[in-house]
Amino acid sequence: MLLSLRARLLLWLLLPLVLFVLVTGWMSYDAARATADLLQNNALLSSARTIIEDVEWTNGALTADIPPAALEIFESPYRDQVFYKVVADRDRLLSGNPELPVPEGRRHFPVFYDTSLGGVPIRAVAYQRELYDSGRAERVTVIVGKTQASRQAMLEDLWHPQLIRQWLMLVLVMVLVPFGLTVELRPLMKLKEDVADREPMELEPIRVDHLQSELRPIVDAINQCIARLKVHATTQRQFIADAAHQLRTPLTLLDTQVHCASQCECDDSALTEALSGIRRTSKTMADMTNQLLLLAQAESVSLSRKRAKVDLSAVVSGVFEELVVAALQRQMDLGAELGEGMYVEGNESLLGALVANLVDNAIRYTQEGGRVTVICLHEGDDVVMRVVDNGPGIPAEACAHVFERFYRVSDDAEGSGLGLAIVHQIAHGHGGAVAIMPGPGRAGLVVTVRLPAWHD
Ligand SMILES: Nc1ncnc2c1ncn2[C@@H]1O[C@H](COP(=O)(O)OP(=O)(O)OP(=O)(O)O)[C@@H](O)[C@H]1O
Ligand SMILES: [Mg+2]
Repeated sequence: MLLSLRARLLLWLLLPLVLFVLVTGWMSYDAARATADLLQNNALLSSARTIIEDVEWTNGALTADIPPAALEIFESPYRDQVFYKVVADRDRLLSGNPELPVPEGRRHFPVFYDTSLGGVPIRAVAYQRELYDSGRAERVTVIVGKTQASRQAMLEDLWHPQLIRQWLMLVLVMVLVPFGLTVELRPLMKLKEDVADREPMELEPIRVDHLQSELRPIVDAINQCIARLKVHATTQRQFIADAAHQLRTPLTLLDTQVHCASQCECDDSALTEALSGIRRTSKTMADMTNQLLLLAQAESVSLSRKRAKVDLSAVVSGVFEELVVAALQRQMDLGAELGEGMYVEGNESLLGALVANLVDNAIRYTQEGGRVTVICLHEGDDVVMRVVDNGPGIPAEACAHVFERFYRVSDDAEGSGLGLAIVHQIAHGHGGAVAIMPGPGRAGLVVTVRLPAWHD
């Protein structure tokens, strides 16, 4: 069972407190018992001393005439029974109760001991003294015992107030701490309601003014998450707006072309022209839709961690098979220098799209008869792929923008301006990076993709 935070905090507070009350309770009971025993022993001893003062020699024999004052010391409202006995030479009873047990063995007097008389427990003292009379000496032992009622009462009087004070403290803690916790946890509850009641697109940060210092790091972390969501939502909104805008242009064109075609006579050469225009436009739209889908896929896959071992050289060879016809049509020299074991951790179809976009760009933007080379090699812990061409390259001022969505350097060739954005997204989604720079002798373009190598 998962206890609430309040119950757990209370438990952590009460557990040591109950232990403390138990230990100190036992200690104060022990101290009270020692005090009660000491007082009782002192009373017994002074009574025994008073009694022994009254044992005297009368006509050469010992007599004990014990006045009631000797036992007055024990008077209390608890009606304790007091017993005494005076014996000479260990066994000759001079006075008192013969039943009162004598302590066993030889000891140092006074001896305090617990015994019982008629089944009633009593505390007793045995006190001994030598009494002299004209050269004779006799050993007199006085035993005084009493029942325990007043000692018990004294013990309780000493101990109970302390015990009550400690339990009172415990009860106060049990009442006040839950109340204090409720008050102190109120900001946390309010925070929970604030977050729960938010509209889906309400991406303003949570205010931290009235929060305790312990809660601030949590709220800061939530605010950072909200800020990231906000950036993401803004990017998504912008992307949808841009995509809709880009698709509107070919759609309008398509509408005009269909309208023109419908006006033409069947054998009109204008009809053929209009139809080929329609085909071009619909191809542009299909290409753009494919690129948009690819970009969306790249974004979602970069968030997931499902990866496999992919040989980048094999991916490049696969892409070459697809694009070799396009390269031949433009009489281009398409070559590759592929190293062995170019393994990376990733999604094979996305890495294929990355390579295809770069090789497609190189073929498309390099003049006819040009040269495109793809190089794959290991550099440190990375697998590096370079797509090198000897085309016109990209002007320095455009380099900063080519990875933006829908950005195109010029509209001379067909294209949606999404290819390099897709490459960037896939490279970063795989924990890598992409960079562009002029080719050797500042001619052409070199696009470098760096990906972490696969580790078994
Ligand atoms: N190898 C290259 N040589 C010269 N210019 C290039 C090269 N690659 C890309 N560019 C320029 O960068 C721009 C952006 O390229 P990107 O691949 O993002 O879009 P696109 O090729 O226009 O469209 P898409 O690839 O989505 O069909 C291109 O319009 C082109 O002008
Ligand atoms: Mg492209």
